[in-house]
Amino acid sequence: MASSYTSHYSVMLPECLEFAALACESSDKEHFKLADMTFGGGGHSVAFAKEFENVEVFSVDQDPDAFQNGLERIKLEKLEEKLKLVKMNFSEFPDWVQSEKPDLKFHGILLDLGVSSHHFDKFERGFSFREDAPLDMRMAYDQDIATAADVLNQYNEEEIADIIFQYGEERYSRRIAKAIVEERQKNKISTTKQLENICFHAYPSNLRHKKIHPATKTFQALRIFVNEELDVLENTLEKLFGLLDKNGVLMVISFHSLEDRITKHKFKEIFQCSKNTVKILTKKPVYPSEREVAENSRSRSAKLRVIQKLD
Ligand SMILES: C[S@@+](CC[C@H](N)C(=O)[O-])C[C@H]1O[C@@H](n2cnc3c(N)ncnc32)[C@H](O)[C@@H]1O
Repeated sequence: MASSYTSHYSVMLPECLEFAALACESSDKEHFKLADMTFGGGGHSVAFAKEFENVEVFSVDQDPDAFQNGLERIKLEKLEEKLKLVKMNFSEFPDWVQSEKPDLKFHGILLDLGVSSHHFDKFERGFSFREDAPLDMRMAYDQDIATAADVLNQYNEEEIADIIFQYGEERYSRRIAKAIVEERQKNKISTTKQLENICFHAYPSNLRHKKIHPATKTFQALRIFVNEELDVLENTLEKLFGLLDKNGVLMVISFHSLEDRITKHKFKEIFQCSKNTVKILTKKPVYPSEREVAENSRSRSAKLRVIQKLD
């Protein structure tokens, strides 16, 4: 495995395996097809490939590091026959299936949203302010898209404030945007520590040392904006649902309320248009067990929602 890819704890893995098993067991087919839209470190994909005997898993990830590491892991685990990995944004997956394998239908499709531990631990990717690094934050860093630094240097104050408010739910978004624009008149915004420092000093002094660091929500907002995470989710969920086989399940693990809200509403829309051919299997979201949260604190904010296509 690529030694530089940091390992990732796969959130709610037993629960995902259970829902996938439910779909496979109630299928009239003997060969199962599963898809993982967010391969990351490959924990879910590899478990799918190992758990089911007659399965073919199709996985994607837009991150070049996850892709490269994934190819090596698949080879190392001798899973080449069962597990295929393609580098792409999952928004492209429905069209890819349509053009490459038009008859392909899935018993289970998983989205384990957001970033992986690798993104936070590889400081040079610019997702974390634990160390100083270029303010990048692109998952698909091989694509010609704007970095977080580009956004902060080029957008106007109001646009920056709106991004921080909308995607970070940061109540001091206007103060932070003002401080960013003041700073960039002196020095170009270019590093994670520079942004951390701006956020810290833009916060009221009595709130600078609370549990949540003053830069946390701004970093989340920029990451979501740079990678268009919410638009991609909103525009792709229904198309992915359309790729399910009879009894197939679409599983979505989200990590913040913005993602969960979109998932919940999309599932409701699909259900309402379905004329009894759809079942929402999670009336309330499924949360990780206490044991999982104790083992992996990042999972504490995870929620799993699952919808099933009955016909
Ligand atoms: C939370 S991690 C997935 C971890 C994985 N389930 C595991 O067990 O290792 C999310 C992964 O999805 C990828 N990703 C996020 N949004 C994506 C998108 N729109 N298209 C493709 N990959 C995406 C990220 O690059 C990251 O590697």
